Amino acid sequence: MTDASAPTLFTWEFAADPYPAYAWLREHAPVHRSTLPSGVEAWLVTRYADARQALADARLSKNPVHHSERAHAKGKVGIPGERSADLMTHLLNIDPPDHTRLRRLVSKAFTPRRVAEFAPRVVELTDRLIDSFASRGEADLIHEFAFPLPIYAICDLLGVPAEDQDDFRDWAGMMIRHGGGPRGGVARSVKKMRAYLLELIHRKRGALRDEGADDLISGLIRASDHGEHLTENEAAAMAFILLFAGFETTVNLIGNGTYALLRNPEQRRLLQDSVAQGESALLASAVEELLRYDGPVELATWRFATEPLRIGGQPIGTGDPVLVVLAAADRDPERFAGPDTLDLARRDNPHLGFGHGIHYCLGAPLARLEGQTALATLLTRLPDLQLAVEPEELRWRGGLIMRGLRTLPVSFTAVR
Ligand code: HEM
Repeated sequence: MTDASAPTLFTWEFAADPYPAYAWLREHAPVHRSTLPSGVEAWLVTRYADARQALADARLSKNPVHHSERAHAKGKVGIPGERSADLMTHLLNIDPPDHTRLRRLVSKAFTPRRVAEFAPRVVELTDRLIDSFASRGEADLIHEFAFPLPIYAICDLLGVPAEDQDDFRDWAGMMIRHGGGPRGGVARSVKKMRAYLLELIHRKRGALRDEGADDLISGLIRASDHGEHLTENEAAAMAFILLFAGFETTVNLIGNGTYALLRNPEQRRLLQDSVAQGESALLASAVEELLRYDGPVELATWRFATEPLRIGGQPIGTGDPVLVVLAAADRDPERFAGPDTLDLARRDNPHLGFGHGIHYCLGAPLARLEGQTALATLLTRLPDLQLAVEPEELRWRGGLIMRGLRTLPVSFTAVR
């Protein structure tokens, strides 16, 4: 569909505030064929009802072999660097029955109980990071807080030894800085990460016989289903996708979430008062609302039509890529009352920030734990937190899949 008044997508201005463009698309071209910055053409689905249906449609495959142009072979779809590093066989690239098997295996190791037991460690990590800048009275919350927290958390969970975690921080830093840009450095980082993970898995497999290690990688190695184990390659791909899927997303939840609170002082005050009184109900609904209002995952990951189908009446051809725009669906006035208003106490909030259907975010309990802990600790320890620059000065990282702030300079009264 072409229309002279159609908004221009994927520019810097768009990344800073994509919501007016999404409102236009929802109204005038809810299933819109768009040329992406990579040159690949894809259908963008922006209405909530269509989005939810598409996310659960088994005719939309996650496997890039179904792409008509096979752009994946040229590195144009998928996670930067994953192809060269042979980490393709992960949950976000496969369909049932392989997906069912691998997801069941990882779910045995990555349980909500394991995450709940991890809560005190997340509190400790959060406090340690705030300690590192609290006396200065100013900080960049992305680099000093939102970025390291999920990396150290997932490294701890996986069982990466403390002395190796800064390597992960560097590799992940490379991936986040260049996610949508030059692929050479990203591919190198992914390669190093894979080599490290394979070696660690190998070592842990050897150690399993002697000790009952309780980390997630040991759990992955131990997990078996009807006599089937994960191969070392599958375990490495799984550890990689846990890192990849759980890292930049959480950075953006903390970054976008804190920014939204700073821009909505009344809502922030409500949450701050509630947290100060030791309540948790508003904190829980606040994180859900922040996921809806300005969620980390702007577009769900790639899907490809395996047969001709229709979405919202629009015919889609076999092999066509379909991108579900979660950020647009979550502002659909047909589903959410006052969708552009941040309402931390919102009750009816079935947002799509964690996706929907069989690929629904496996890490949602960990993401919620990290998001709630990070926001509560920031508001408690730095009660007069404020933006240190004008909002117009902030720059957004608008890769295709995720959207988040590059930096978030803040100031506060120095404490302790
Ligand atoms: C899948 C969002 C944090 C692991 C997904 C999907 C979304 C999402 C939207 C579905 C993608 C699709 O259907 O195309 C988020 C957000 C997070 C977050 C907003 C943080 C706020 C995490 C964390 C982990 C994680 C912390 C793990 C440590 C995964 C995995 C999948 C996934 C493994 C693939 C599941 C599957 O294909 O079966 N996530 N995620 N995520 N997420 Fe998350």
